[in-house]
Amino acid sequence: MKALVLAGGSGTRLRPITHTSSKQLVPVANKPILFYGLEAIAEAGITEVGVVVGSTAAEIQAAVGDGSAFGLRVTYIPQSEPLGLAHAVLIAQPFLGDDDFVMYLGDNFVMDGITDVVEEFRKDRRDAHILLTRVADPSAFGVAVTDADGRVTELAEKPRHPRSDLAVAGVYLFTPVVHDAVRAIRPSARGELEITDALQWMIDHRLAVHSTVITGYWKDTGNVTDMLEVNRTLLERVEPRVDGFVDDESEIIGRVRIEAGAEVRRSRIVGPAVIGAGSVVTDSYIGPSTSVAENCRITSTEIEYSIVLRDSSFDRIRRVEASLVGRNVKVTLAPRLPATHRLVIGDHGQVQLSS
Ligand code: G1P
Repeated sequence: MKALVLAGGSGTRLRPITHTSSKQLVPVANKPILFYGLEAIAEAGITEVGVVVGSTAAEIQAAVGDGSAFGLRVTYIPQSEPLGLAHAVLIAQPFLGDDDFVMYLGDNFVMDGITDVVEEFRKDRRDAHILLTRVADPSAFGVAVTDADGRVTELAEKPRHPRSDLAVAGVYLFTPVVHDAVRAIRPSARGELEITDALQWMIDHRLAVHSTVITGYWKDTGNVTDMLEVNRTLLERVEPRVDGFVDDESEIIGRVRIEAGAEVRRSRIVGPAVIGAGSVVTDSYIGPSTSVAENCRITSTEIEYSIVLRDSSFDRIRRVEASLVGRNVKVTLAPRLPATHRLVIGDHGQVQLSS
């Protein structure tokens, strides 16, 4: 069995972060979201992985390499344009051959991995098997209707009037018959070859599409709110450890990880939180559910429920909350009154100021 990991897409809802980096590489609890998926695949006993890449191919390849760090053998499959999930299967056919495979969306997060569903699929070997999860607003997802045995009887992509609360989570298991389906369907109204349509084609042709409803935590991290929420959830599982330097005047409370080479001086860090290697926190408060990546400088600042990416700095800012801050960002105070705001912010940036 192989895996097909989708790591293309332009990540428009995470702009401007995704202007310069791939959405699948935004770190949660200081580890790229994509790595959690690759680890779950390796844990399920799969080693042959095709990674579909788009405009951010170079960055994904630099981060994942040949996959050996995860115990995987990775083949890169370039997708010239984001033409849909079924299109990704179509172009991956030479790699997939006649093997069964699990397709995993690289920006999705499944808390308890995929080992159970992969085992169930291996045992029963239905034509296709998908993961579903109950959500409050299914209209933002593919939506499934199932019978009492978990067989999928109907699917719709982002329907205005959902027929159930079962959203399609980003994990799909297929036998090679899916290749007939992706060849048969036509692009949707949004111009994409939808995997939902390929699955519906299978249902229409009396093939067995089965489902498992996940009870654990699942999120599609396509926007900032979801990203912060996954970060919060993952931080709650971080192993507390101080490998860096913490002075006597600092206080570390709760589940906190201070990476090697990080320094904390005269500050309060309230977990769950991580401070990345080489970062220096001085006279500051880092509040719950916050990840500070590598080589940041946080000085006389308060930050809570946020993700700060590497090489960024905050100087005398009170206070920052529910924020996603990119790499190499500098946030400082204006030198003196009259108070005006001087901003250098990338395209699609979002800033909320109090005056
Ligand atoms: C895709 C699928 C959708 C699924 C979702 C899960 O949506 O088309 O059926 O529910 O992933 O994340 P997209 O992220 O392309 O809008």
